Amino acid sequence: MIGKALDWIVSRSGLKEPHRVFLERRIPENLNYSYCLGGVAFTCFLISAVTGLFLSIYYVPSAKDAFHSILMINEKIFLGRTIRSLHKWSANLLIVSMLLHTIRVVINRSYGPPRELNWIAGVVLLVLVMAEGFTGYLLPWDQKAYWATVVGTNIATAIPFIGSELLYLLRGGTDVNGITLIRFYSLHVLWIPLFIILLLWAHFHMVRKLGISRPL
Ligand code: HEM
Repeated sequence: MIGKALDWIVSRSGLKEPHRVFLERRIPENLNYSYCLGGVAFTCFLISAVTGLFLSIYYVPSAKDAFHSILMINEKIFLGRTIRSLHKWSANLLIVSMLLHTIRVVINRSYGPPRELNWIAGVVLLVLVMAEGFTGYLLPWDQKAYWATVVGTNIATAIPFIGSELLYLLRGGTDVNGITLIRFYSLHVLWIPLFIILLLWAHFHMVRKLGISRPL
């Protein structure tokens, strides 16, 4: 039944079968498990995106209500605590698997020609994923989140010439307060994910176009 339904959608829409787009390609012989790390990172990204969508239904991004909305998600919402944990763990694993993937790319020297542009896309992804983690850390709006953001944003002042302006821009003023929370929320759920998705599309497009490098 499902197969017939899919065939019907494919024949009417003109879309290729999705599995062909992803799976039908040539890959080098003797690939090892370290070549799965990019896929592991992508899986973690998908889990954090889906769980984040559910959390956004109940989370309230205001200085008055943010902490209470987190308590409510934990204690009152069906599977709320599980979804929060999945979000947190998939985000942490995303960072770990992405760093291991980068180490694999460095050890294998896959950053060299013709993959230089994909390496640059990867470096920007690395920064964006870190920024996603940093902005998400403030959202529970508890003491740990607050002080981590005070210390983290202070680092911006170490940048010569533009440091204090950047600090002001990040916080939305001189202090970390409700305006910072809204700013970080917007970055966390809209701006940064949008750029991550665009870059992932470019990253995968280049992997398909250039093929995967051979193991050394
Ligand atoms: C969210 C983060 C990322 C995801 C989901 C991701 C995903 C992938 C996937 C699925 C591949 C195919 C081969 C493989 O898995 O090893 C790949 C290849 C590649 N990635 Fe990433 N990646 C990410 C971040 C990065 C970063 C941070 C870098 C480097 C700074 C990077 C550089 C590369 C390069 C150069 C290749 C081509 C490797 C080759 O042909 O051997 N990626 N990526």
